[in-house]
Amino acid sequence: MSDRDMSTDHLPESVGGAGHGTLTKDAAAVDPFQDPGLPEHRPRVTDLDPRAAKRAERQVALLFLIAIAGLVGSLFCYTLISNTAVVRITGLGTVNANNLALGLCLGFAFLALGAGAIHWARTLMTDVDLVQERHPMRSDPESTAFAVSEFKQGVADSGFTKYPLIRRSLLTAMLVLPLPAVWLLRDLGPMPKDNLRKTLWAEGQKLVNPNTKQPLKAEDITVGTLAMANPEQIYSPEQKDEFVDQLAKAAVLVVRLPQEALKGSEAQKKKQWDWSVDGIMAFSKICTHVGCPVALYEQQTHHMLCPCHQSTFDLSDDGRVIFGPAARSLPQLPIRVNENGELVAVSDFREPVGPSFWERG
Ligand code: FES
Repeated sequence: MSDRDMSTDHLPESVGGAGHGTLTKDAAAVDPFQDPGLPEHRPRVTDLDPRAAKRAERQVALLFLIAIAGLVGSLFCYTLISNTAVVRITGLGTVNANNLALGLCLGFAFLALGAGAIHWARTLMTDVDLVQERHPMRSDPESTAFAVSEFKQGVADSGFTKYPLIRRSLLTAMLVLPLPAVWLLRDLGPMPKDNLRKTLWAEGQKLVNPNTKQPLKAEDITVGTLAMANPEQIYSPEQKDEFVDQLAKAAVLVVRLPQEALKGSEAQKKKQWDWSVDGIMAFSKICTHVGCPVALYEQQTHHMLCPCHQSTFDLSDDGRVIFGPAARSLPQLPIRVNENGELVAVSDFREPVGPSFWERG
């Protein structure tokens, strides 16, 4: 080490003030590696100039006001923007407008809250460094010796070293232990066949009762009735291996509504009626939240409740979500009646069934 390095001439008489570590020339001469203490505290402009402090206060308050505007804006977006409205964004495809506006408002709100808190801390909160004395982490020699002797005694008592067969088989078991967890990850895939955009429903496919496997007839569905139905093809031998996957996409529920019960715009009511057989309508049974089967029908209000997280769909309003976390309506399956009076599909669903994730382009 050079003379210059060892010199204490550049040191003040005492470095640091109240609450800071101190280093005197005498101490440095005795031990050149002593803790040099904290650097001298430099006041910020807001510590010296009350007008700068006032300006910083206004900036922090402005950021908090922006956060309030974002939070209130999110309430307006949630209330005023239909949860079925969509916008097209280049590169992202079709995005739910309600989710987008909500996300932007909440994003700006949290950003402004965070920025305000940081600006407050950096400009106005005290910035004097504090020192917390640390005690040695290491145990004293007696405690260490006691722990080591206890450990050795435990190993001896267990016979871990005495019985090598047990030791090796236990270590092997510990190595194999994580394998089932990794193996179970297989269940994350593969994707359902043909994904959720395509189901077994197709032109002329009969709606059959899942219990009796008999086709549903229009005359059997009266106002207030709730019937479950599957596509007839799902029971064919070719679908044996795919039965569960196909059922999870194609299950529908069938209700009958009087025409005067329909709500919404004229175009929406016309579409809903045209896809029905004299008010007999088929809707996907798969909740658009995370895919539970919806099944609780309130016949007076025509509301359909999902038991998992209480999403509620109004079947008289094109399956619109009126409560809960689901983000889009229950898809309706267009149906007609054939020459035998049986209900049959006109086509597949016109939109993906299941969680709204699949809505994205
Ligand atoms: S799955 Fe239906 S509300 Fe969550």
